[in-house]
Amino acid sequence: MQIPRKVRIVEVGPRDGLQNEAVPVQTAHKIQLIEMLADAGLKHIEATAFVSPRWVPQMADHAELMRSLPRRNSVTYSVLVPNLRGLDAALEARVDEVAIFAAASESFSQHNINCSIAESMERFAPVFQGARAAGVRVRGYVSCVLGCPYEGDVPLARVAEVAGKLFAAGCYEISLGDTIGVGTPARTQQMLAAVAEQVPVEHLAAHFHDTYGQALANVYASLEMGVRVFDASVSGLGGCPYAPGAAGNVATEDLLYMLNGMGIESGVDLDRLIAAGAFIRQSLGKDTRSRVAEARRRRC
Ligand code: HMG
Ligand code: MG
Repeated sequence: MQIPRKVRIVEVGPRDGLQNEAVPVQTAHKIQLIEMLADAGLKHIEATAFVSPRWVPQMADHAELMRSLPRRNSVTYSVLVPNLRGLDAALEARVDEVAIFAAASESFSQHNINCSIAESMERFAPVFQGARAAGVRVRGYVSCVLGCPYEGDVPLARVAEVAGKLFAAGCYEISLGDTIGVGTPARTQQMLAAVAEQVPVEHLAAHFHDTYGQALANVYASLEMGVRVFDASVSGLGGCPYAPGAAGNVATEDLLYMLNGMGIESGVDLDRLIAAGAFIRQSLGKDTRSRVAEARRRRC
C-alpha cells in the first residue's frame, strides 16, 4: 500500500485534551484555544462534548462554548454526543457535525456510557435519524481497539464488528481509538486489517493515546495501511476519565513534525500550532509540552 501524500488531522484537544484536566478551564480560554487552532490551519476541530455534566464536569459549558464560538466556513466544528438528548442540544447550538462513541469492550462501555455495547447501538439509532433529518454528518468512535483498562486484550473480531455496525448505521467515518495507549505497530496493522474487512480504509481514522510512547510509531504503521485521517491533541493533552492511567493523545505538533518530514501535506502551520500549545499549557498551569515544543525551547 502506498503511503498517502495528504492527510486530514482531526484536532481533539479542546474535547479529549480538556475533558480529563483537574483544573477547570474558562470557556473564554477554550474559545481562544479553538481560534488559535483554526489560525494554525486545522480544518476539523472537536470543540466539546454534549455529555452529562455529572459524568464529565469539564465539558459542562458545552452550550455556552458553542454559542460564543465564532464560526469559520472553512472549519468543521464537531462535538461528542452520547444520546438523543445530547444531539438535540448540539443541533440547537448549531454544530457542524456530531460524533457518537461506542466501545469494543463491554466493561469500558459500561464504565463510560453506562450501558452495554448492544444498548449503545439502540441508543444511537434515533441519533442517526435526528442527525440525518438535520443534515448533520455523524462520525463514529470505537474505543479500546487495542486494549481495555478493565478487560485487557480485546478480540480484533469484536473491534471489526462494532466498527462495521457503526459504518452500516450511517457513520461517514470510524475513528479507531487506542483509548489507553497500549498498542504497538504490528498489532495496529493487524487491527486495521481486521477492521478493513468491514469498513473501507478510506473511511477509517486512527486515534492514538501515547501511554507507552508508541503513538507516532502507530501512526506510521497506519499510514502504511493507507489510513489518511488522524486524531491528535495539541500539546499531547488528553485522556478519558473512565480509562484510568491513560496518557494524552499523540501531540498534534509531533504528528505534524513527522508528516512534514515525510512530505505529507496537512495544511497546518507548525509555529502557530506551537503557539496554541503554549497558550493552553499556560492556562492549565502545566510544565509539560509536546516533544517538538520542548526541542524548540532547547533550540535543537
Ligand atoms: P446515565 O447516568 O446512565 O444516564 O448516563 P441518565 O439518562 O440517567 O442521565 C444521568 C444525568 O445526566 C441526568 O441528570 C440526565 O438528565 C443527564 P440528573 O437528572 O442526574 O441531573 N444527561 C445529560 N446531560 C447533558 N447532556 C446529555 C445528557 N444525557 C443525560 N447528553 C450518559 C449516561 C451517556 C449520559 C453518561 O454516561 C455520559 O454522559 N457519559 C459520557 C462519558 C464521556 O464523555 N466520556 C469521555 C468521552 S469518550 C472518550 O474519551 C474516548 C474517545 O476519546 C476515543 C478513545 O480514546 O478511545 C472518544
Ligand atoms: Mg481519546
